[in-house]
Amino acid sequence: RRNSKGVNLWCEKHWKQLHADLRQWDSHQWHAASSPVSAASLSEKRASGGAAETMHSPRDLREVVGHVVWSTPEELQSALQVAEQFFPTWSATPVEKRAIALEKFADLMESNLAELMALCCREAGKTMQDGIDEVREAVDFCRYYAVQARKLMGKPELLPGPTGESNELYSVGRGTFVCISPWNFPLAIFTGQVVAALVAGNCVLAKPAEQTSLIAARAVALMHEAGIPARALQLLLGDGAKIGPDLLSDKRVAGVAFTGSTGAAHSINRTLAARDGAIGILIAETGGQNAMIVDSTALPEQVCRDVLQSAFASAGQRCSALRVLFVQEDIADQLIEVLGGALRELRVDDPRYLSTDVGPVIDAEALGNLKAHIRTIGEHSRWQARGSVHGVGSSHAEGLQGHYLAPTIVEIDSLDQLQAEHFGPVLHVIRYSAKGLTSVIDSINNSGFGLTLGIHTRNESAALDIERRVRVGNTYINRNQIGAVVGVQPFGGLGLSGTGPKAGGPHYLPRFTTERVRTINT
Ligand code: NAD
Ligand code: ALA
Repeated sequence: RRNSKGVNLWCEKHWKQLHADLRQWDSHQWHAASSPVSAASLSEKRASGGAAETMHSPRDLREVVGHVVWSTPEELQSALQVAEQFFPTWSATPVEKRAIALEKFADLMESNLAELMALCCREAGKTMQDGIDEVREAVDFCRYYAVQARKLMGKPELLPGPTGESNELYSVGRGTFVCISPWNFPLAIFTGQVVAALVAGNCVLAKPAEQTSLIAARAVALMHEAGIPARALQLLLGDGAKIGPDLLSDKRVAGVAFTGSTGAAHSINRTLAARDGAIGILIAETGGQNAMIVDSTALPEQVCRDVLQSAFASAGQRCSALRVLFVQEDIADQLIEVLGGALRELRVDDPRYLSTDVGPVIDAEALGNLKAHIRTIGEHSRWQARGSVHGVGSSHAEGLQGHYLAPTIVEIDSLDQLQAEHFGPVLHVIRYSAKGLTSVIDSINNSGFGLTLGIHTRNESAALDIERRVRVGNTYINRNQIGAVVGVQPFGGLGLSGTGPKAGGPHYLPRFTTERVRTINT
């Protein structure tokens, strides 16, 4: 139902309620410590000298979100031992029981929506819409993998054999899985990796990004409440580059599910390869240099919205985000003009306001790197446009005090000018001629990344031709290129962008298992 102004009353009522629920978490402070079963509580750890770090919000550095105590080397060792010992029990737990625990966790996330949203908004600087999407995607992962696990592991597959012999193929967990996640989807990706490994019968050591440890700790507490044993799921907190090598060189680690930068994935791969003994497997989902190709049949006004969403939603901090827009020269001036105007309309502000389009970037280091990139690339650009950072309301009289960056569009000559993924609200535009399409495609393929691709054209056969020739994991035609939905657009890339299998797809869970065959002479 809509009111006389066309406002959807259901949405308005629920937003108002949600707003009221969220306010309760405005000044709450959360606490996180690693959770091997033998570990002391946070207060005991503090009393025994464990130093707690105070976490500030990227949306306002004066805001304390909570405190984190980082894991010690002894806790890593203890966690490995606990997981190793508990694996036979967890692996033998019926898949139905494991799947039910995932569904219970999904229910708990839904009933704790306001708290989880508040955490995402305060610890990771998410907008409210992004906060809702985080919880929604995490819930989707749980329900989807519960269904997939029942299909995969519910009963053995009977294979043919001679009379008097039965042959059965079945899947079991691999052992201890280390799940390492990034800060940009602090609940959704963290949850997706962890519940997939658990429901497949593995014990899990979860290592979230240090920037978003509080969200991870709250999710782990809810998973335990949902019935996942504390010895099946333990939380480790700290700087991955420091604790990763010690943890992953241990032969007790059967596999690693990693999402993050390509450089970190290479380093993990080297650590696993250098071990003696059982070969550990790596599932890596990494970065992208994602392009969109817009040909002269596209309407600039239609393309504009999809470009802005793809490049600047979530402050450009999505692995799927658009980084390089290739525009056919015939419509380039027109599209650039429309984009420049629309860019200036984007509201860059504190994400607690519903009107905010672009919130902060995650931390001072990210802000510094992005500013340096804009300075350098700006020196070689043909044209550029910058949005502006707002700051509204009397409570913001002192101005914004978070990690805000005005979204920026720069026109450059070629993809070779970009040597790395720039993870924030910066879009690069390159013009091409109709005859130059093949070299556009070659340059995208030669970058080595292969995550997402956008295509805008009214020529269907041209779209399908480009889709076939550009090697990426996910292509979106005539729409934005972010926000893959679990079970609808299984997500993941090729080459420098990852190993597959695709998260949220039917082939993800089998990679967390190993197959066994039982032959019985009856
Ligand atoms: P990051 O690589 O810095 O960190 C990711 C995680 O890896 C963190 O938990 C970190 O502590 C840990 N880590 C870092 N070095 C490690 C090492 N040597 N050994 C073990 N663990 C290590 O990435 P980030 O800055 O947190 O996230 C942004 C990156 O993630 C971007 O490159 C983005 O494209 C990528 N990403 C990819 C996907 C995808 O699905 N392909 C999704 C989200 C993010
Ligand atoms: N799954 C996320 C997206 O598609 C990364 O935007």
